[in-house]
Amino acid sequence: MSVDYTITYNITPEEYMAMREAVGWGLFPLEQAEAGIKNSYIWCLREGECIGGRPIGLGRLIWDHGYVMYIADIIVMPEYQGQGLGRVLMEEVLAFIREQLKPGYRFMVSLQSAKGKNTFYEKFGFISRPDENHGPGMHQWFSAE
Ligand SMILES: CC(C)(COP(=O)(O)OP(=O)(O)OC[C@H]1O[C@@H](n2cnc3c(N)ncnc32)[C@H](O)[C@@H]1OP(=O)(O)O)[C@@H](O)C(=O)NCCC(=O)NCCS
Repeated sequence: MSVDYTITYNITPEEYMAMREAVGWGLFPLEQAEAGIKNSYIWCLREGECIGGRPIGLGRLIWDHGYVMYIADIIVMPEYQGQGLGRVLMEEVLAFIREQLKPGYRFMVSLQSAKGKNTFYEKFGFISRPDENHGPGMHQWFSAE
């Protein structure tokens, strides 16, 4: 991989929404983005070798500090996809998760794969549901009028 990037652990709500928009994901008010970022662990890959570069990759993890973890967003900007940055993000997030394990601890790490992206996550040990032991993952959106 030959992309120059710098890892930071923060992103602004505006940058976050721009990344969502770039990959065609739904938008919501900036205050919702701000609250989500504040309550998440963030890995932001920035273009070039300085911390002020444009975001080109994002990983976001939510943890209740018990056993429940949720990978909320893995995004690589379209022009940078297919160059290993998604793998960099997943390896950073998974290394962090492993570092939090104490003797006897277990974490259940969940995510909702975007359509057609399950094979990407399977490379990192995630299983697709349903299978012989698990029902399907489920979700529901609630929206104000
Ligand atoms: C999914 C996404 C994060 C992958 O990022 P990327 O930088 O293109 O992925 P990488 O180049 O690091 O690829 C890592 C590995 O996953 C594989 N891979 C990448 N995209 C894949 C896909 N859509 N389906 C299956 N495998 C995929 C690559 O072949 C590579 O395999 P290898 O390491 O064994 O050679 C990126 O395409 C993206 O941001 N998409 C839009 C947002 C999105 O849908 N995110 C996932 C939401 S749940």
